[in-house]
Amino acid sequence: MNRPLIKITGVLSLVLAITSCRVDPNSAGYEYMPDMYRSPALEAYVDYGSNKHMDWTLAQKSEAGVTMKLSRKPAPGTVPFMEADMKRAEKLTTAGSSFMIFPYTLKNTPEDYERSAMEVKSPLLSNKANIEKGAELYQHMCAHCHGKEGKGDGAISASGKIVAPDYPGKLKDLQEGKMYHSITYGKGLMGSHASQLTKLERWQVVEYVKCLQKGVAAPTYDNNGMVVFAAASPAEASTEETMAKP
Ligand code: HEC
Repeated sequence: MNRPLIKITGVLSLVLAITSCRVDPNSAGYEYMPDMYRSPALEAYVDYGSNKHMDWTLAQKSEAGVTMKLSRKPAPGTVPFMEADMKRAEKLTTAGSSFMIFPYTLKNTPEDYERSAMEVKSPLLSNKANIEKGAELYQHMCAHCHGKEGKGDGAISASGKIVAPDYPGKLKDLQEGKMYHSITYGKGLMGSHASQLTKLERWQVVEYVKCLQKGVAAPTYDNNGMVVFAAASPAEASTEETMAKP
């Protein structure tokens, strides 16, 4: 190897060694081929807006007004549009499918719980499609506490840790609005099911629970697919009458 080459190599290594060192311990030093480090594809949660100020601290960026270009919050008041869910709901409702996208406006307060009894009505038809779907969801999500037929005798209730009330007994007259409210926010030892069940699914479960309230676990349907409940037997009706009169 001749001398000039050694000199050039020596100087080059020195330059490289000096320039690659920086005082800031968080800095990776100079990037000689930034394309190798930074993918040209846009990815979520990457701060591309301030890429050209990579060396700046967050405080410097905010002072200079350098902002993130991606991952911004949606504009206030934005509601999600779930086309597939809306289409599915349209076939099953009487009140239109807008309930699917608009927020449930009642709050998780005792006052709004009472309001739900009066103001919140099922948008669904009490028909075979809804009730059967509701029954399926019920067996997956509710039966381990409330029992297969809603009698409050699910495995968890039987263990005595959490005792769920039975629908044909204690909850016989509970309004559908309160059911929906309680499934959405939870009540007492029952947690909220809002993240597990869509609004449509919550109402479908309520349609099935309405059958269980009448003690009917396997409902029958008329020719139009609407649920029919056998008229109360005269014996039962008269007991109710006698009970009503003290
Ligand atoms: C962890 C056990 C558990 C699960 C799972 C559960 N529940 Fe409950 N549920 C309870 C308990 C306990 C109560 C009584 C709450 C209270 O009044 O303090 C209750 C109350 C209710 C009520 C009455 C609410 C009211 O306003 O009085 C309804 C309706 C109900 N559950 C429906 C459901 C449905 C539908 C599901 C399935 C999506 C479900 N529950 C899942 C334990 C459970």
